[in-house]
Amino acid sequence: MDRLKAYVVGATGLVGQRYVQLLAEHPWFDLVGVAASERSAGRKYGEINWVLETPMPQKAAELRIDRLDVDSLPKVDVIFSALPSEVAARVEPEMARRGHMVVSNSSNMRLDPDVPLLIPEVNPDDLSLVKEQRARRGWSGFVIKKPNCSTTILDLPLKPILDEFGISRIHVATMQAVTGAGYAGVPSVAIIDNLIPYIKGEEEKIVNETRKIFRREIEIYATTTRVPVLDGHTEAVYVDTVRDFDVEAAAELMAKFRGVPQELGLPTAPPQPVIPIRALDRPQPRLDRMAGRGMSVVVGRIRKLAPKKLAFVALGHNTIRGAAGNAVLAAELSIKSGLY
Ligand SMILES: NC(=O)c1ccc[n+]([C@@H]2O[C@H](COP(=O)([O-])OP(=O)(O)OC[C@H]3O[C@@H](n4cnc5c(N)ncnc54)[C@H](OP(=O)(O)O)[C@@H]3O)[C@@H](O)[C@H]2O)c1
Repeated sequence: MDRLKAYVVGATGLVGQRYVQLLAEHPWFDLVGVAASERSAGRKYGEINWVLETPMPQKAAELRIDRLDVDSLPKVDVIFSALPSEVAARVEPEMARRGHMVVSNSSNMRLDPDVPLLIPEVNPDDLSLVKEQRARRGWSGFVIKKPNCSTTILDLPLKPILDEFGISRIHVATMQAVTGAGYAGVPSVAIIDNLIPYIKGEEEKIVNETRKIFRREIEIYATTTRVPVLDGHTEAVYVDTVRDFDVEAAAELMAKFRGVPQELGLPTAPPQPVIPIRALDRPQPRLDRMAGRGMSVVVGRIRKLAPKKLAFVALGHNTIRGAAGNAVLAAELSIKSGLY
C-alpha cells in the first residue's frame, strides 16, 4: 500500500497532540500538515505547549501551523479532526463534500443515522453507513465519528457480555480525568483536592451513543464526575443481564474478546482490547491507563451481586482509546475495508 497523507486539525489541543504522537510512528500515514485556530496559525508546531509524556516527534516540530481554512486545505488522504464541536459542525461536512475522508472526535453528527459512530472492535459493520451517507448528502468524501471517551471505555467490556448474556439495564458512574475537558478545560483551583459531580452533556452522550452503537434501546442511567486525575477515565458499572451468568465465565469472555481489528492485525489494534485484572485494588489510572499502549480497557472488581446482576470497574485512557487512538484505528479499518 502507498503511504497516505494525513492532516490534523485542532492539532495543538490535547487530542490533537495525541494524533500527532500516534501518526509520527505510524506505518501507513505521513503527517504532512497541522492546523489550528488563528491564535496558533503561523507558528512552528515545535513552539506549542506540548504536554505529552514522550518528546514531540522531530518531523512534527518542523511543521508550520496552518490557520484552519476549508478553502485552502492541502491535498491529503485523511483529515483527523480534534476541533471543538461547534467549529467541527461548520467545517467537517464541507471537508467531506470536497472529497476528504474525515475521522473526527467532536460530538456533532454522532447521532446522525447515516454516520458511523465507531468502536472498531464493537460495531465495525456500521462502516457500511458511509455508502448511505455519501448517497444522501451527495458527498464524494465522508465523515466517521468516534464516540465520547466514556462511552468507548464502557462499551468495549460490555460487548462480550451483551452478546453472550444479553443486557436489560446499565447503571454507570464515571470518574473522569481532567484532560477529558481539553487543554483549557478545568481550572486547577476548581479540581485540586476536589471532585466535581457534573459534566455538562456527558450523561446524555453515554446513554444515546451506547444505544446507537449497540442498536438497542437499553435502559441506561449515568452519573459523570470529574476527578483530579491527569489521564484515564474510571467507571463503576452495574449491569442487569437477560440470562444468568457465571462470574468466571464473564471475566473469561472479556479476556477472550477480539474484534475485526485484531483479526486483520491493524497497526493500532491492541492484542487484547479488554483486560480483566484480579487484584482487588485495581484498575488504577496511574498503573493501568497505558495497557495495550493506551488502547486496552482494564476491568477489575468483576462481581456477581445477585442472579443476573454483574458489577465491575473499567478504566481506559481517555485521549488514546477514548479519542485519538480509537480514531486512528477507525481510519485503519475504513482503509482496509476499501472505503478509501
Ligand atoms: N480530551 C479528551 O479526552 C476528548 C475525548 C474525546 C473527545 N474529545 C473531543 O475532541 C475535540 C478536541 O478536544 P481537546 O480535548 O483536544 O480540546 P482542546 O485541548 O481544547 O483543543 C482544541 C483544538 O481546537 C483548536 N481550535 C479551537 N477553536 C478553533 C477554531 N475556531 N478554528 C480552528 N481550530 C480551533 C485549538 O487550536 P488553538 O490552540 O489554536 O486554540 C486546539 O487545537 C473536542 O470536540 C472534544 O469534545 C476530547
